[in-house]
This record gives sequence, C-alpha cells and structure tokens, in this order.
Amino acid sequence: MEDYINELKEFLKIPSISTLPEYKNEIEHCAKFVAENLEKIGMSRVEIFKTEGHPVVYSEWLGAPGKPTVLVYGHYDVQPVDPVELWNSPPFEPVIKEGKIFARGATDDKGQLFVHLKSVEAFFKTEGSLPLNIKFLIEGEEEIASESLRVFLKNNTDLLKCDAVLVSDTSLYAAGVPTLTYGLRGLSYFEVEMEGPNRDLHSGSFGGSVANPINILSDVISKLHDKNGRITIPGFYDDVLKLSKKERENFKVLKFSEKEYAKDLGVSELSGEKGFTTLERIWARPTLDCNGIIGGFTGIGAKTIIPSKVTAKISMRLVPSQNSVKIAKQFARYVKKLAPKSVKIKVTELHSGQPGITPIENPANVAAAKAMEKAFGKKTIFVREGGSIPIVTDFSKRLKSPVVLMGLGLDSENLHSPNEHFDLKHFQLGIISSAYFIKEYSEKS
Ligand code: BES
Ligand code: MN
Ligand code: MN
Repeated sequence: MEDYINELKEFLKIPSISTLPEYKNEIEHCAKFVAENLEKIGMSRVEIFKTEGHPVVYSEWLGAPGKPTVLVYGHYDVQPVDPVELWNSPPFEPVIKEGKIFARGATDDKGQLFVHLKSVEAFFKTEGSLPLNIKFLIEGEEEIASESLRVFLKNNTDLLKCDAVLVSDTSLYAAGVPTLTYGLRGLSYFEVEMEGPNRDLHSGSFGGSVANPINILSDVISKLHDKNGRITIPGFYDDVLKLSKKERENFKVLKFSEKEYAKDLGVSELSGEKGFTTLERIWARPTLDCNGIIGGFTGIGAKTIIPSKVTAKISMRLVPSQNSVKIAKQFARYVKKLAPKSVKIKVTELHSGQPGITPIENPANVAAAKAMEKAFGKKTIFVREGGSIPIVTDFSKRLKSPVVLMGLGLDSENLHSPNEHFDLKHFQLGIISSAYFIKEYSEKS
C-alpha cells in the first residue's frame, strides 16, 4: 500500500486540467505517466493514441485465451482548481490527513482509476498472470464530454471488444457501504448570450430607454421553472420514464435523511420538483440549472451602467429515455422564444451526453456485487447517480457490453470543488474489490 500511495501521489502532482488550453503539455505528460505505469505493472501492450483533442491511453494483456475480457475505463483529466484560495493545501501537492489524500483529481478520477492498475499489478506480482483478459482505456477528455474518445471508440470497436466494461468514477452510497450504480443522468450544456445596446451605457442618461440584457436574461431564466419546480420547456418531459413503484420502494429502503443532508449543505430547506423525494429528484428526474452568469460590472464598489452584454451557462441533467439532441433543440427554440426583440440572443451548445441505465442482473454486475461484498464485508447495494459520464452510453451502443459502475468515491469528497480528497481506506478496499472482481468474473462460463 505504501508504494501504491506514493505512486498515486506522483500521478496527482500532474495538473492535467483538460478544459484550459494552457495545460496541454501537462495533459500529455499525464498520459505518459499512465502509459509508463501500465508498462511497469506488466501489461503486454501499451500505446498512446493521438486524437484531435487529448491523447487516449490504451493497453492490453490478452494472456488468458477462452476467458472473458474486461475493459477498464477511466479518465486522467481533472477539473480546474478555482477558487484556489479556498484550498487548505495546494491542489497539485498531495497531502494525507486523517487517512484521506487531498489533491485535485484524488477521487475524480485518478485515485479511483489507479485502483485497477494496482489490482492488476498485484495479480502479476503474486500469480504471474491474470485469470482473464484485460484492456485499459484511459482518456483525457471526460471532464469536457469525451468528444475525441467518441471518435476513437467508433474507429476502434474491434480493438476495444470486450465482455464487460469496468468503471470506477462514481460514488459509494456512504462510507464503507459497497455500492454499484446502475443509472447515470445525461447532460445538455449551453451558453446563452444576450446583447442589448452596442456598448455599456450610463444608467442615468439611458436608464429607462433600452432593455438591460441582465434583467432580461434573469427574467428568461426564472421562466424556465414553474412554481412547482417543473421545467417549462415544451415537450421536455415527453420521454421521461416514470419511476416504477419497485424503484421508488428501493430508494426508500436506503433510509436517506433529508434533514442531515440539508444540514451538511448549510441550507435550512431543500428544494426541487414537487411530488418527489430528494433521491428521486437527483437520480431519476431531469433538472435545469444556471451554472454561472458573466456580465456587467462585477468589480469592487459601484459603477452605474446598463451593460451591453451578458452570458449565462445553463445545463440540464437528463434521465432515460430523454435524448440530448432533441432536448437541445427544444431548449434553444424555447429560450429564443422567451427573449424579447429588445435583445439579440445567441444560444450555443457546449456539451452533451445521453442518460443511461444498465441492467442490474447482468453477469458482470452480479460478479461485481459479490466482489465488493467480499472486500467490504457487507451486502452490496444498487443506486443511481445524478452525475454524468458521457461515454458510458457509447460503450453500451458500440461495444454492446454491460458497464459496471463500481464507484469508490463519496459525494462528500469535494469533486469539482476545493479540497478534493479520496479516502485511502476506499482506495485499498477498491483494490481488493477489483481483484475479487477479476477472479469472480473469470469464472463466468
Ligand atoms: N465522475 C464524474 C461523474 C460523477 C459525478 C460521479 C458525481 C459521481 C458523482 C465525472 O467526472 C463528471 O464530473 N462528469 C461531468 C460530465 C460533464 C463535464 C460532461 C458531470 O457530470 O458534470
Ligand atoms: Mn469523473
Ligand atoms: Mn468530474
């Protein structure tokens, strides 16, 4: 474990931020680190594939003919670090405190991904081989919606052929509780720009004569929900699968405490779509949120202007069987309709990803549930997830293989937020789970 943790630290030191162009070299450096580690642990083929965007690392060991093949997927890219002043230690100088490792990417996804490299390493060290065939596919664009990997997957379906895909990039339901995820939400992400007057204007001389784009945009955003917390885009709910009674009951069994949840988040009341519990709202209902607004005067003190322009970033989380292409069209049409003629509006799609569900009963999930149960010493539970991993539905579609979402993080580990960390206990239990999974799944007929 000590060696594994030291190597993880080296991995976490690389600032592989995918969304900021100035980190391109670091991204390449990080792909190299992953490739070198795969070579070091004893994989027989390791290759870095260039793409239009960030490199894809592919590796295989196919020394168990006649046995199943597992494709491990993960991402080596990380989110930006801002607001950096809120970090208790620098984001790319990993430190361990109370059994947790703190750094950007610790839980999302470097720590979780590294688990599988280390379980394979342990097999090679102790038994000299694996009981099944293994492929690794590790990308650098997950946090920007996996555009290049989608192309790579389309052009390399034979290379990536497998019986199951194994992903650790989701969360445990709670610390120490073995958890498999069977549903992910999709995503549709937009920038909406509104332009009023052709320059910033003195709000005294001009106030009252022209539309203020920030006022207008705020009004449009507020119209996207009704008083019951439902999204008002026409047709938005048409394809939403209703929650079955069975699923609603399964969620209830999890004994989710809304009170503790609210307390942890520092809010006195939770909020969302009327008629649904918090877990239902997060896991099985679509949502719409404004992620940020850029516009007007935001410096210290006052400056009396009517701004010329404003931009909002707005995202929707989608659920089966909504289609992100259809939703994107509906959204663009509706916000354009809501905007008055007094502003020019531009709607640009940034990212998208389809929602997906994997059947709980497939043999890979059964093997994974057993493996986690053995490692954690508790029964594995099945949950859905509010976040998105855009490439997962492409795996199902192109490779026709079930995807096992063996999450090892915690929602409380500050992914995408300052002071991201990963519990090293879960790092270790993850390695053991991964090893048990390899064993269990190799015995499937
Ligand atoms: N690992 C997350 C997905 C996730 C989020 C799992 C929360 C468990 C809890 C993934 O890296 C992620 O952040 N996905 C993005 C996708 C987007 C940027 C295209 C997301 O969900 O916002
Ligand atoms: Mn992730
Ligand atoms: Mn992420």
